[in-house]
Amino acid sequence: MTISTAPVIELHSVSKKFGDRMAVDGLDLEVPAGVCFGLLGPNGAGKTTTLRMIYGVTRPTSGTIRVFAMDVGQSTRAVRARLGITLQQNVLIEALSPKENLFVFGRYHLLREPELSRRVEELIDFLELRSHADVPVKRLSGGFQRRLAIALSLVNGPELLILDEPTTGLDPAVRLALWSRIRNLRAAGTTVLITTHYMDEAQRLCDRVAVVSAGKVIRAGAPASLIAALAAETIEFDCSIEEEAALLDGFAEHARRLRIGQRLIIYLANTTGLIDHIRRSDQGDRRPIIVRPTNLEDVYLSLTGTSLEGDA
Ligand SMILES: Nc1ncnc2c1ncn2[C@@H]1O[C@H](COP(=O)(O)OP(=O)(O)OP(=O)(O)O)[C@@H](O)[C@H]1O
Ligand SMILES: [Mg+2]
Repeated sequence: MTISTAPVIELHSVSKKFGDRMAVDGLDLEVPAGVCFGLLGPNGAGKTTTLRMIYGVTRPTSGTIRVFAMDVGQSTRAVRARLGITLQQNVLIEALSPKENLFVFGRYHLLREPELSRRVEELIDFLELRSHADVPVKRLSGGFQRRLAIALSLVNGPELLILDEPTTGLDPAVRLALWSRIRNLRAAGTTVLITTHYMDEAQRLCDRVAVVSAGKVIRAGAPASLIAALAAETIEFDCSIEEEAALLDGFAEHARRLRIGQRLIIYLANTTGLIDHIRRSDQGDRRPIIVRPTNLEDVYLSLTGTSLEGDA
């Protein structure tokens, strides 16, 4: 017997208008229980606005949002009790230490002693804040502040954790440590909704992703299937627009490709034929060529283009 569980988050035809600007435009989204789901998209695509609507701080102009099978607008408090959120801008009490911030947040969530102290200590260890636990927040580096913001979102032991660009500005070691924490939470059954501009992060962490552009989902799926649907291999080299047709002739003229200035990036099932052709055309002049497995950044760029395209 299969037990079908309702999605943790369901958005149907959700739109949000600011003045005459459509920040979110008929968005449909389903986040199943127990997955890490990545919301990806260019600056201004509507990701933060979508997260704010899921948390109930912003009301949609139209459409329905259900979290834990409840209407967010009608059951905001019940939804929030089971949800943790770290928004793009940290919300911290600057004069207080991380420990004091955690206590304030814990009391807000109606935690009582001795559970409250146990939870605070656990989160200080979980996000490795011990060395700075008693330093006022205003004296902490950006990375420590970010870790504290994430710790705060975990105070109520949420079933759903929402993280808006959690690792922006963090050093590589801290990013790796945070990924491992997010994986631990997911393994323990927490559903995670995350936004990030780092496609390596999304590829490593997320079971499913949705790429949004101008307030709409333009592609959704598991990273591995999205990558497989684009092409197994990616080849990159410099070539002028004038050279392009002759270089690709017979080998890749129908392949998906992206040009960024002189750089040509082509997505192919097999690059061997094209490489031989380029070598023959170059007649001994060895043009540097990179061949690598296609990744989620390629999928993202092939869907959204590059913001520099118009300037190239
Ligand atoms: N409070 C607001 N008032 C007016 N416009 C807003 C408001 N909040 C967001 N917007 C607009 O809505 C659009 C979507 O913004 P949003 O912050 O959701 O994008 P985002 O995908 O999170 O971008 P980023 O990757 O830069 O964080 C933008 O055009 C933004 O200017
Ligand atoms: Mg944002």
